[in-house]
Amino acid sequence: MNLRVAVFASGGGSNFQAIAENALNYRVTLVVCNRPKAGVLDRARELSVPAQVLSPRAFESDKLYANSLLELLHAERIDLIALAGYLCKIPALVVEAFWGRILNIHPALLPRFGGKGLYGHRVHKAVLEAKESFSGATVHFVDEEYDTGPILLQKKVPVLPNDTPDSLAERVLAVEHKIFPEAIDLIAQGRVQIKGRRVTIQPIKTHDD
Ligand code: GRF
Repeated sequence: MNLRVAVFASGGGSNFQAIAENALNYRVTLVVCNRPKAGVLDRARELSVPAQVLSPRAFESDKLYANSLLELLHAERIDLIALAGYLCKIPALVVEAFWGRILNIHPALLPRFGGKGLYGHRVHKAVLEAKESFSGATVHFVDEEYDTGPILLQKKVPVLPNDTPDSLAERVLAVEHKIFPEAIDLIAQGRVQIKGRRVTIQPIKTHDD
């Protein structure tokens, strides 16, 4: 089955590009962005992926915004949402409608260094200030809070003695580009089960199974 994936992004869109270019058992069929000048829109154009600009600010209420998102997602027959540097909160109605079908990438090893206000360079700065020896990237399911949903994949990145927030961000981003497409593909292969907060990944089926 080819899963239809919508990528939500607010920034440069390097994760969008990695997800789109490494698609095996899924297809990125939509980009949703809240900023009309975001770099992700240029990348979407280059890869011929349709994009929609939808800002929550343009709606009178959260409910109207949620309904308009749901309408779009249903019209485009979206199976899975990938949040890739999307800086707006996903309305509760959408989280409910797509429960277990929204993933987010976070540039640290959750549950540490996550939560409201901890995004982008702030995360890497916090990791360095805490003198951690490892950081990393996490792909997790989205619930109604910030960065608290069940974790699907994580990969460590060592913190080096002379790291700055920029240098650490660059190495973590390279790992994000690997694990986000991998995580989506695991779901597309039907290998992920989520029960409450517990996520299990089934081994690959071989011809002998
Ligand atoms: C990534 O570091 C991601 O972890 C965070 O936002 C950044 C997005 O980068 N949530 P890009 O727009 O995909 O290049």
